[in-house]
This record gives sequence, structure tokens and C-alpha cells, in this order.
Amino acid sequence: MKITVVGAGAVGATCADNIARKELAEEVVLVDIKEGLAEGKALDMFQTAGILEFDTRITGSTNDYSKTAHSDVVVVTSGVPRKPGMTREELIGINAGIVKTVTENILKHSPNAIIIIISNPMDTMTYLAWKNSGIPKNRIIGMGGILDSARFKGYLAMELQCSPNDLHAVVIGGHGDTTMIPLIRHATLNGKPVTSMLSPEKQKQIVADTMVGGATLTKLIGTSAWYAPGAAGAILVESIVRDQKKVFPCCVYLEGEYGQKDICMGVPVVIGRNGWEKVLDYELNNDEKEMFAKSADAVRNMNEVLSTLDVNA
Ligand code: 2OP
Repeated sequence: MKITVVGAGAVGATCADNIARKELAEEVVLVDIKEGLAEGKALDMFQTAGILEFDTRITGSTNDYSKTAHSDVVVVTSGVPRKPGMTREELIGINAGIVKTVTENILKHSPNAIIIIISNPMDTMTYLAWKNSGIPKNRIIGMGGILDSARFKGYLAMELQCSPNDLHAVVIGGHGDTTMIPLIRHATLNGKPVTSMLSPEKQKQIVADTMVGGATLTKLIGTSAWYAPGAAGAILVESIVRDQKKVFPCCVYLEGEYGQKDICMGVPVVIGRNGWEKVLDYELNNDEKEMFAKSADAVRNMNEVLSTLDVNA
């Protein structure tokens, strides 16, 4: 198995590091446009192999995509991250061109790869990558919902004083501060609804904190987060390469599911060796359906901006 991570910034490097430590592939290639960055980080990472006892080979390349040839999975993290006070949506002007070029370069050398998009605004970048590449929809997956759900679990676990691993909590919809939908009504702790353990005010607060989870970190750190985004990318890769058939909320191309079409948005999907294999139908109540429709409107408005940029989507 060969995995490429494009973008050797904090998210890409953390993702590659997690992939190597989990030995998800024999070979991981890290690519970046900045001279020496990917080579340096890859070398540093590979030098942990003798400490952490993993056997994945990690190499870096400055924009030479021939090194990525025959990758099974490619994770795209390229582009600029947000600064404090910025929304993910404000990155579209710069990141759209970058994601388009990166996707084209990847497919030239790995025409059968499954592509994971982490670059922001993620829902629109996933849509752009799919439209522009013309590859089967199952091979393009946007990673946002796994991260948002992990943040949701984190906030719930802090409040309920429980392990995040005993929680089932899912965020669907867009990966934006106002478009994501933490499904608190469906969240459970060891099978028991968390709504029976939290006051309505606390529930509202946890949902609100989850929605601005990324912005909170950007404010604290001065740039966008990387530990959880990188780890989230890696578990998505794991379910693909190990054909685990795990259910994750991921951004995929919808053709009528959840009442939406011609859009990429976060819904629960089964992830296996062929990419995303099917969409699961959660029973949403009217309020949740309305939130999903509103989220879709916002994502669609963002997608329309693509037509004003020189990216042919
Ligand atoms: C985040 O929410 C990078 O979009 C990513 O932290």
C-alpha cells in the first residue's frame, strides 16, 4: 500500500505521522511546494521509526508528483489555513486553484487513487475536486465530519466526565461554523441519550462550542488546528486500506440522499477499500431536516463562488 499526503504543513505532517505510526502502508510520500519542507519533515518522521518501532518508509518531495505514482490513497491538505477571526469560507479564492492543480497532478500519476480532501472550505473543495476530476464519486471523500464529531465528543466528555470513547455522537452537514449540525438528539453515552443527562442550556452550549470548535482553536493558537484534523484524516485512511467498513460522517457527492443533489456535504457513510460505499439514512426530525436544508443552501452558495474563479467547476 502506498499513501501520499499533499501539503507538509501541520495538518499534512500530523496526518502522515499518524499513518506511519499505525503502519497503514509500506510507503508514505509527503509532498509540498515549499523547497525542502516535505523532505525535512519526512526525514524527521522516519527517524522516529527506530524509536516507535514502525516499519513504514516515509519520503518527501518538493512538488515532484512522479514520486507519488501508484498511490492507493492521497490526502490533500494543501492551501492556506485560517487566521484568527477568519472563516473557512474566506479561503476559497486562494485554495480553489491550489486544490484543482493538486488533484490534476495526483491523477496524472495515480489515476486509481482514492482522494481525501481536508483543504478548506472543505465541502466546496471536495465538490471542486470531484467536478474537475470526473472520477467515480466514491473515490472523492471530504474529511470534516470525523473531526467535528471528535470535537463534539470532546465537549460532551468534558461535561459528562466520561470517556469520549463511550460516546456515540455525530456531526453532519457542512464543515463550517454555521453549517455543521451536531446531532445532539441522537448522541448517546453507553446507549443512553445524552439529552437525558444534560439540561437544555448545557446541550445548547455544547452544540454551539462544537460548531465553533475550529475557530476556538484558531483564536488560541493563532492558526488552524492540526492534531485532531491530522488524526481524523488518518483514521479515514485506515478504514479504506484495512477495508474496515466503518461508518463516519464524511463529505460526499449527493444525488438525492438527505433531499440534496449536485452538492458535497457531510452524511454518514460506510468507508471501505472502494472509498465511500454507501450513505446511511439517519432518521432526522423536521427541525434537523430543516437545518440540513439550510446548511445545503449555504454550501451551495459557496460552490457558486467557484464559477467566478478560474477553476472550471
Ligand atoms: C479545522 O476545523 C482545519 O478545518 C479544520 O480545524
